[in-house]
Amino acid sequence: MSKRTHSTHILGIVVIFFSSYILGIYSAARATSQLGFSTMHNESWTLNDTLLDSLEHELVAGAGSGVARNNSRNPRWFPFYTIGRFSNDICRGNNLLMGTCAIRGECTDNNGVAAGSCSTITSQAVCCIYQRTCGASTNFNNTYFYNSNYPAPYSGGGRCTIVVTPPDSSICQLRIDFLALSLAPPSGDGFCSTDALTITGGASQVPTICGENSGQHVYVDFNGESPISITVVTSGGYTFNRQWQFQIRMMGCTSATLAPAGCLQYHMTPSGNIASFNYVSAASSALNSIGVQGTRQLANMRYGICIRKATGMCSITYGQVGSDAYSFTMTNDVGAVDPALLATSAVQSQDCTTDYLIIPAPVQAGVNMPSDRFCGLGLVSTTTTAKPFVVFAVTDANEELDISNRGFYLSYSQAACPVL
Ligand SMILES: *[C@@H]1O[C@H](CO)[C@@H](O)[C@H](O)[C@H]1NC(C)=O
Ligand SMILES: *[C@@H]1O[C@H](CO)[C@@H](O)[C@H](O)[C@H]1NC(C)=O
Ligand SMILES: *[C@@H]1O[C@H](CO)[C@@H](O)[C@H](O)[C@H]1NC(C)=O
Ligand SMILES: *[C@@H]1O[C@H](CO)[C@@H](O)[C@H](O)[C@H]1NC(C)=O
Repeated sequence: MSKRTHSTHILGIVVIFFSSYILGIYSAARATSQLGFSTMHNESWTLNDTLLDSLEHELVAGAGSGVARNNSRNPRWFPFYTIGRFSNDICRGNNLLMGTCAIRGECTDNNGVAAGSCSTITSQAVCCIYQRTCGASTNFNNTYFYNSNYPAPYSGGGRCTIVVTPPDSSICQLRIDFLALSLAPPSGDGFCSTDALTITGGASQVPTICGENSGQHVYVDFNGESPISITVVTSGGYTFNRQWQFQIRMMGCTSATLAPAGCLQYHMTPSGNIASFNYVSAASSALNSIGVQGTRQLANMRYGICIRKATGMCSITYGQVGSDAYSFTMTNDVGAVDPALLATSAVQSQDCTTDYLIIPAPVQAGVNMPSDRFCGLGLVSTTTTAKPFVVFAVTDANEELDISNRGFYLSYSQAACPVL
């Protein structure tokens, strides 16, 4: 063998070695970014970006032939696929949205948007943001779902759906954050008869909601590996500037931030606010079926709002958001009482059978309350040590006498255990 042939062979072997290396990383990145966990990344990268660029270019071209397009999550063909130069971690893009760190070509292939770099080693690692609108399906963590033309509003009617499929059985739950959600208001009777958001296919039932819900969120458990559909139905006949943008997060079954099963909402901060759907401190402009000013509260709600007990905390105290006298108006006629009495014990009731909150084992001003139900037009500061921390929100199907109600908007704070 001549010296020249010999070195050509070696060069060939080196080229094949690095090609498989990168193909391996590429397919591993594809596989793991769908799973949402990271590849091993404890080896420093030695190729520079120029070389990587050209190889990546070939890879993307090769992807069309089906070589790298294979979505198998266990790409055994490439012996080096576990050695990567970065992991498919969650990242925050330069547009402030959450994404997954991925190779640029992979991001493009998956219709992602590259929002800046996520690695100091190579510019080929981009924070890939998945944004989808009507008719999409996804199995990517942190997919954003929005109305067509978002951020411009959508004034028309129709049905806009995204189908979310868990990539595998390690995903148990979805958290859907309504970064923006503005739909036509409910009828004066609290029904979402014009526009409605429905979430179906999960293990738990999600109530139909409408109106103003920016900043709210819901959790839905997956039913095995069945998909969950998120659908916004709008009525074109009603002129309204609809807008929505959701962040859809997949929660691993062993995640520390998994909501307890069955909680529709889950708050993880030691203090914060909770509010009913469509809560705004303004009266409904709609009349109800008996011709009087309607309610903002949505009818037929039965759900739990769970709050994570912070370390060392023993009790939780709920109170109306002080700046807002209407922040607990769940039953009776708001217009019939002296506004100065709103939010006071004078208009708080425990005799509740239609719309109410349940706070287990409630204590007010050191006194155990006779019932765990609260309704009426006021809720004074209420503390409980019953755990887990859950408030149940209940409304029935008849809001006729709940004239001009807004719902509830409460603050909560946890307190430390007493020192014995
Ligand atoms: C999905 O992304 C969120 C961050 O938005 C993260 O907390 C969560 O763990 C991720 N899920 C998985 C399965 O990696
Ligand atoms: C890489 O591996 C070494 C030895 O196994 C370990 O000490 C180090 O913490 C690892 N670094 C990272 C970033 O995982
Ligand atoms: C990368 O490698 C190429 C070819 O070996 C070389 O010409 C170029 O200067 C290198 N770039 C950097 C940034 O090191
Ligand atoms: C990907 O490759 C695996 C393993 O060879 C094979 O079983 C699977 O059918 C392929 N999938 C596609 C979409 O080509």
